[in-house]
Amino acid sequence: MCGIVGYTGNEQAAPVLLDGLDKLEYRGYDSAGIAVCDGEKIRITKARGRLKILRELTHDGRMLSGTCGIGHTRWATHGVPSNENAHPHFNEAGTIAVVHNGIIENYQKLRNMLTERGYAFASETDTEVVAHLLDYYYKGDPLQAVLKMMNRVEGSYALGIIFQDQPGKIYAVRKDSPLIAGTSRDGNLIASDVPAILKYTRDVYFIQNEEIVCMDAEGLEFFNIDGEPIWKEAVTIQWDVTAAEKAGYEHFMLKEIYEQPKAVLDTLNPRIRDGRVEIEELGMTEEEIRAVRKIFIVACGSAYHTGVVAKYVFEGLARIPTEVDLASEFRYRNPILDSETLVIVVSQSGETADTLAALREAKRRGVRVLGIVNVVGSSIAREADNVMYTWAGPEIAVATTKAYSTQLIAEYLLAIRFAQARGVVSQEETDEMLAELRRLPEHIEMLLGHKEKLQRFANRYIAARDVFFIGRGIDYAISLEGSLKLKEVSYIHSEAYAAGELKHGTISLIEEGTLVAAVLTQEDLYKKAVSNIVEVKTRGAFVLAVTNVGNTEVEKAADYVIYIPETYKYFTTSLAVIPLQLFAYYVAIGKGCDVDKPRNLAKSVTVE
Ligand code: F6R
Repeated sequence: MCGIVGYTGNEQAAPVLLDGLDKLEYRGYDSAGIAVCDGEKIRITKARGRLKILRELTHDGRMLSGTCGIGHTRWATHGVPSNENAHPHFNEAGTIAVVHNGIIENYQKLRNMLTERGYAFASETDTEVVAHLLDYYYKGDPLQAVLKMMNRVEGSYALGIIFQDQPGKIYAVRKDSPLIAGTSRDGNLIASDVPAILKYTRDVYFIQNEEIVCMDAEGLEFFNIDGEPIWKEAVTIQWDVTAAEKAGYEHFMLKEIYEQPKAVLDTLNPRIRDGRVEIEELGMTEEEIRAVRKIFIVACGSAYHTGVVAKYVFEGLARIPTEVDLASEFRYRNPILDSETLVIVVSQSGETADTLAALREAKRRGVRVLGIVNVVGSSIAREADNVMYTWAGPEIAVATTKAYSTQLIAEYLLAIRFAQARGVVSQEETDEMLAELRRLPEHIEMLLGHKEKLQRFANRYIAARDVFFIGRGIDYAISLEGSLKLKEVSYIHSEAYAAGELKHGTISLIEEGTLVAAVLTQEDLYKKAVSNIVEVKTRGAFVLAVTNVGNTEVEKAADYVIYIPETYKYFTTSLAVIPLQLFAYYVAIGKGCDVDKPRNLAKSVTVE
């Protein structure tokens, strides 16, 4: 959840670190800090709150001189957001500084052990034990101290470490938290994620579990857990640097909403050939696909919501029983898995701890796991048996939009691929579906053109206390996402309900003027959904309906109608979600919320 960065080279380190933290702030933003060594002494500055406070404190880094340093932006787990708990953390003598992303699970035991040996702690964090452990083991050989520390700590970590008596050197190590190293003419870098260093280099090394990197201004060396040197190959990052910048948009969220037509196209195009869906990365023969008797889709948050849609699509199109599970539940509920089961894990970051743990649980039980992942080289991408990438590009806003849309596309394509292999769709139907899929980007573009209308509507609801989203079937799945988008960025309480379920309790919350957003995109369910609209209208609700063009009947029941273009019944989510994303965005900015970095959230949830 936190972001770490490190730089050693010919330039002043602090401005490079602040630049990197700027790009990593989406990973956590309750405090930030940097440690810089001027060749003689390590100096730390840290501050509770946003990075801009740290920038002010350090005069944009000019107050800390030195060409080697590490930085951190925090999402609190152990210990409240405060100056004391902000990273970097020192050993008592102030000669070893550490930044950490992850959780040291046995920190209490280590803390007791170190306290007994006379160490005093300055923070409530789990991280501080690492600084003291390194101090305990350091006898002049940093690599040996790092290896011994790794031997003692349990849990997940990406660590950046500097030692005062090793000027110009950074040590970094990871286990189950992302870490990359980069090399440039002016120096070498570490970071939690590529955007942090993209300004300086495109040549990066993905550090694997229990690998150590040691770098100075001249070069990098890699070691395994036994301290033996290992060779690693650099990967050249192909993205455009501007992909990780705001490009004139006021917020990343809006930029990413607008990038959806392209993201959808990029995810779709390489997988449609000669009237068929071809997914080479699936790595399954026709027989293997036909042998699948059950699919589990496992994910968290919005990625889970795409799974709820995909259940309808897999079952409806490919006729394969499909279960959708929250990753945090799946791993503890002892699901029935066998050799005829396929587990699909869905994740934008590829680092979500619960999803990764679910993947490992499935693999441990001998089940094939397919990852649908956005971040290339992430943990889930590496550990899944096969990985199908969504080509959304870097997603920076904490609330997902374009990654969600591309996950849907990946799932539609998989369902069609499975239906093809099982011979349950005709070529005619496949042609129709593929034509509709290809039309989605232009339909999304068209819906984005209505943003002013949505902004005006959203402005009326910035003071709303509760909002309800209702729908049936796939429309219920869309409602789940619409509701999550709204609550996470605007802090307005919202709930999604299967429309027919509302009257079994929740309808008692509807009062005069309560906003109910009703989604009606499934023709065979129109009538039933309209009845549910009437039920809430009778109790005083104001109803916003999102429905297919041509379904004008709904105007009689709803107060405000947004029409989406006609598409194949299984793909309506891709269109109906667009006005709901825009609505959430405009309500949030109307309220003055920090839409790209909502409170209490982080982009990459690498803790359970
Ligand atoms: C909501 C949101 C989260 C993520 C969830 C899973 O807007 O972004 O609910 O969908 O934390 O994250 P990934 O996809 O990275 O596994």
